[in-house]
Amino acid sequence: SDNGGRTAAKLTFDSIAGGPEDLVRVPPGYNMQVMLPWGTPLNGVAPTFNGDGTNTAAEQEVQIGSNHDGMKFYPLPAGSNTSDHGLLVINHEYSNSTLFAGDGRSEDADGKPTDPDEVRKDIYAHGVSVVEMVRGMNGEWSMANTGFNRRITAATPIDLAGPVAGTDLVVTAYDATGMSTRGTVNNCGRGFTPWGTYLATEENFQGYQTTQEDPVPEEKSRYGLSATGFGYQWAAVAGDPSEQNGEFARWDTTPNAATAALDYRNAANTFGWLVEIDPYDPTSRPVKRTGMGRILHEGAEPGRVFEGRPIAWYMSDDNRFDYFYKYVSNANWDPADANGGLQAGSKYLDNGRLYVAKFAEDGTGEWVELDISVPALAARFTSQAEVLTYARIAADLVGATPMDRPEWSTTDPNTGEIYLTLTNNTRRSEGDENPANPRANNSHGHIIRLAEANDDPAATSFTWDIFVFGSNASADPSFNISGLTLDNEFGSPDGLWFDARGVLWIQTDNGAPLDSDSNDQMLAVIPAGLEGDRLIRPETQAQLKRFFVGPAGCEVTGVDMTPDYRTMFVNIQHPGGSFPDGPGNRPRSATVIISREDGGEIAL
Ligand code: FEO
Ligand code: CA
Ligand code: CA
Ligand code: CA
Repeated sequence: SDNGGRTAAKLTFDSIAGGPEDLVRVPPGYNMQVMLPWGTPLNGVAPTFNGDGTNTAAEQEVQIGSNHDGMKFYPLPAGSNTSDHGLLVINHEYSNSTLFAGDGRSEDADGKPTDPDEVRKDIYAHGVSVVEMVRGMNGEWSMANTGFNRRITAATPIDLAGPVAGTDLVVTAYDATGMSTRGTVNNCGRGFTPWGTYLATEENFQGYQTTQEDPVPEEKSRYGLSATGFGYQWAAVAGDPSEQNGEFARWDTTPNAATAALDYRNAANTFGWLVEIDPYDPTSRPVKRTGMGRILHEGAEPGRVFEGRPIAWYMSDDNRFDYFYKYVSNANWDPADANGGLQAGSKYLDNGRLYVAKFAEDGTGEWVELDISVPALAARFTSQAEVLTYARIAADLVGATPMDRPEWSTTDPNTGEIYLTLTNNTRRSEGDENPANPRANNSHGHIIRLAEANDDPAATSFTWDIFVFGSNASADPSFNISGLTLDNEFGSPDGLWFDARGVLWIQTDNGAPLDSDSNDQMLAVIPAGLEGDRLIRPETQAQLKRFFVGPAGCEVTGVDMTPDYRTMFVNIQHPGGSFPDGPGNRPRSATVIISREDGGEIAL
């Protein structure tokens, strides 16, 4: 049922049952292979992973990181549609105690780390992996190593670019010119560009950076900075004789006027950005693109790209009652830039406009520009660099719509509509609802859909509706608004991706209770298929089907396919049982590779 590369309106697999077992489920007729678990050596051979957590920091630095998240496949060679050879780029969101030998890291009585080399290992488990993959004649994938494989970690030198680079806002003891910083953390949803680069998102950086200021200034408190963060407290080992270039000190942002070498008061301003990485150039330095704004970044996917027009990226800030943003390039898309690497990044990502979404009751909405010329922003900030650095505060001031935790967004290739997951928000109380977030105690989340006015990436108005509400099947119809059944009940939508055929893939994180007691999962639906030239909108709830169920305790996050739609990559994060090595082994996040037994296209 292929239609000139676009889809007919039907999925060809039957919805599979959800369940709580410690295993991966895919539909009958599909194969799966598990690869690249945390600790896999990047050269495929050494240093070998030690299942007891005894690998050193230096070993972790050349092994796959922990807690896989957003991911994208980049065919080799660059610009080709090769489907049996390419680079997988994988985010590693965070770390946990399984990294360390015994029962966890060494700590003092206050729960602060005491062993610099353990902290270093923790730092290296974060970031991004670039891994070369090849498919053999038998259909099995394996790692290759012709020079592309690398780790970017929470210690890697990274350039700053765009309006905030070089300003006082990002001057630290690491770089007094404010043109660079060190490391990326909490890389969650994925982003990408039309010119072959990857955008790693920096989500919960406030879990790592701390401050002892009392009171915490608004510029830090609005981003959640606190005295202890999530407890990592890497700065506790600062000053160790082995410390290099503030690798530990920079995680404490308390002003230190007395000791310039320890003054990292602005270090928090060097996190919370989108980080552009060129996977095809293993020697290139990643770049934080400050023009796109500083929030707790989740996904960052472009909308439809048109020659001669600006490009829009849709960007989420994943906190309860935070916002949905759009960045629009000043430059118009030139297809000659299709393999332009980081130079194209400078052209499109360093000069643009930042907007935040305001949803109205009548199904319309407005993109409000966050520009220093807006009176409410001019009254609070002195420069556009401040507006971008404190984009959350700017969005508060213009009255953006508080959402139920915006996670990934993605664009329907058949219609240009933008879909956004709102994962859940149990703190939204009755009376606090708004049109776009209409359920109090929204335990199961929903997916909202926007259409730009005139299909224009630079539009400042849009229309919207709610595509589907998460729920368990037996919930009262006042909550199970979309009429989900045991075949497609879900909660906490997070990862979201339209493949180029128009199939929408929905992944879940920490699903609220389901009647099937199911683990987290991935579902598929074709919201708008084409039959001939005719646009078909199937009965959504009948067509929403469960394709994949993860092992116990995991989150299913990160998905991509090869250009021929015959191989799919799905990440398993924080499995809670013994996946993938089996009973008696520590669980490890990993990538599951799915194909059809008959070699056909997945799902169609
Ligand atoms: Fe890391 Fe917003 O999930
Ligand atoms: Ca997520
Ligand atoms: Ca999530
Ligand atoms: Ca997660």
